[in-house]
Amino acid sequence: MARILTGIQSSGRPHLGNILGAIKPAIELSKNPQNESFFFIADLHSLTTLKSGTERGEYVRAIAATWLAFGFDYKKNVFWRQSRVQEHTELAWYLNCFTPFPMLANATSFKDKSEKLSDVNAGLFTYPVLQAADILLYNANIIPVGKDQKQHLEMSKDIANRFNILAGEEILVLPEPQIDERIMTIPGLDGQKMSKSYHNYIDIFLPENELKKITKKILSDSKPLEEPKDPDADITFQLYSLVASEADVETMRRNYINGGYGYGHAKQALFECFMEVFAEPRRIFNYYMENNEELEGILVAGEAKARDIAQETIGKVRKVLGFSS
Ligand code: TRP
Repeated sequence: MARILTGIQSSGRPHLGNILGAIKPAIELSKNPQNESFFFIADLHSLTTLKSGTERGEYVRAIAATWLAFGFDYKKNVFWRQSRVQEHTELAWYLNCFTPFPMLANATSFKDKSEKLSDVNAGLFTYPVLQAADILLYNANIIPVGKDQKQHLEMSKDIANRFNILAGEEILVLPEPQIDERIMTIPGLDGQKMSKSYHNYIDIFLPENELKKITKKILSDSKPLEEPKDPDADITFQLYSLVASEADVETMRRNYINGGYGYGHAKQALFECFMEVFAEPRRIFNYYMENNEELEGILVAGEAKARDIAQETIGKVRKVLGFSS
């Protein structure tokens, strides 16, 4: 039995890139009866960049509703809000004291963020240590993440190893990253990676008319309607091929190549496809966004399951460090 664990930061509403790149593949993995999945909302991590509590609360709900909208089985698995299981913060502190300063100072994501952001706080610096705590608390074996998280996972392993050397036994399980190469390839409105920070994302849970408007904003070249077009060079086609059926993708490909088919037609087809394939997730998402107490109940139940396991690990760690009574 493999234990899969992954977290999503609550720093925005999940967009199509998060859904196709992270949420859906993780849910697929969780459907394997051999696997046990631990999916959580990394709300503590979001504090490194987002200070507003109101916004955080809304994003937490939106992320939880998205996992449920795409069919995550929260009864079979474990689903919770990181901040509510205080062992995350406690273990993070212990692990801070096993993390060499230069390892954090050389982290690519920290260097990137400290160039881009005006608020370069210590939380941003120790971000990977909290992430290591998330993973190590639950003895997780497989961590499905995008390429950009590879270095953080190597750090988790390194930190666990340093602790285990002190303990003289393998108290913390060394995790394996499962890097999915496709995760990085979901293009946004402008063709760059779809990301909240590039403002090029598609929120598939928008009301119908707004979703239509945003779909029309996808960048295209200025070839006139009659002219044949190269499907593979076009962002609308690329997005369509990620969501539509194989047969529909083939039809659109032929339309592009034959000419007499404009980008406006393609965008309309993409919008209609969103409305069709995401009809059920949109319904479930809206249901949970309107039924907050039910959503909260699901997270609180998950929290209890997570806490049981987290407490076991923290007990062993405290003992090694001389913090147990
Ligand atoms: N850093 C991850 C991201 O931004 C989110 C995250 C936090 C995470 N803790 C984790 C991912 C533990 C996997 C495991 O995508």
